[in-house]
Amino acid sequence: MISIGNIKIEGNLVLAPMAGYTDSPYRRIAKNYGAALVVTELISADGIIRGNRKTMELLRFTEAERPIGIQLFGSDPDVMAEAAKRAEEMHPDFIDINIGCSVRRVLRGGSGAGLLSDPGLLGKIASTVVKSVRLPVSAKIRIGTDADNKNYIEIVNILQDSGIAFMAVHGRTRAQGFKGDVDWNAIAEIKAESSVPVIGNGDIRTYEEAMARLASTGCDAVMIGRAAVGNPWIFNGRIPDSDGIAKQIKEHLELMLEFYGEKGIKLFRKHIAKYIRGMKDSAKFRALLVNAETKEEILEHLDKFG
Ligand SMILES: Cc1cc2nc3c(=O)[nH]c(=O)nc-3n(C[C@H](O)[C@H](O)[C@H](O)COP(=O)(O)O)c2cc1C
Repeated sequence: MISIGNIKIEGNLVLAPMAGYTDSPYRRIAKNYGAALVVTELISADGIIRGNRKTMELLRFTEAERPIGIQLFGSDPDVMAEAAKRAEEMHPDFIDINIGCSVRRVLRGGSGAGLLSDPGLLGKIASTVVKSVRLPVSAKIRIGTDADNKNYIEIVNILQDSGIAFMAVHGRTRAQGFKGDVDWNAIAEIKAESSVPVIGNGDIRTYEEAMARLASTGCDAVMIGRAAVGNPWIFNGRIPDSDGIAKQIKEHLELMLEFYGEKGIKLFRKHIAKYIRGMKDSAKFRALLVNAETKEEILEHLDKFG
């Protein structure tokens, strides 16, 4: 079991941060099904400093999501430290540093997984952020830049020396993006070497697989991303029938409308597409549901599932 500061984390399955998916409504749902811990999607440190409206919206969370971390990305130690201080004012349970994001927009500024090729800067960012806030600080990393530069042991040592409270490890290199094998041996090695709790991550598709990864690596927890979208029951291993899925879709829809207003319908479409994969006749209803413009339309189509 992981402790974050004074908080003991119940359970060992964690919802991975995913931009565009793991917003406040979805984080609440994941918690309901037993996710032990959630993290916001990545949030720009620059955006926080500038008070960018869209960025500030990403900082919103509710009490039901605790324990929750706010994840920051950036490449300037002072900007990251200032952003962490402002994020701390929102009273999350911890601050998380993104050292894993491989999308171009983030890499271009040298942030995210870009930091893996500059361990000196990475260490400076981690130690400056740790010193700037009272909250625990975690990091989410990949295992290196590419197959020839799997420098994870160096990275892990730097993070530990910087005072990081725990870390999540996506067992791929930056160059791999989201493809190719996840190196769970590297994750197990990090767990064995590390003096702080380690959360393993990568390609877990079922509750049973999650349990097997926990057992084989000795990790303190494992983190589930893509397989949790439209599939929040992955956190308790009890898959509902079609009626149960329809009920969950309706609840999620209500949360989206409450949180976002009308624009919640559009934002919900990508979730619906994933939920209905598990329902019978899903191919038939997919287009209808995904193209629905109103809550009433969605409910009407859902009622035709049986
Ligand atoms: C659409 C999408 C968005 C993501 N956004 C983030 C993010 O904001 N922060 C982060 O640390 N990782 C992000 N990730 C990476 C995931 O947290 C996770 O490490 C990765 O998907 C591997 O886990 P999985 O195989 O269980 O999905 C994202 C992944 C996806 C697919």
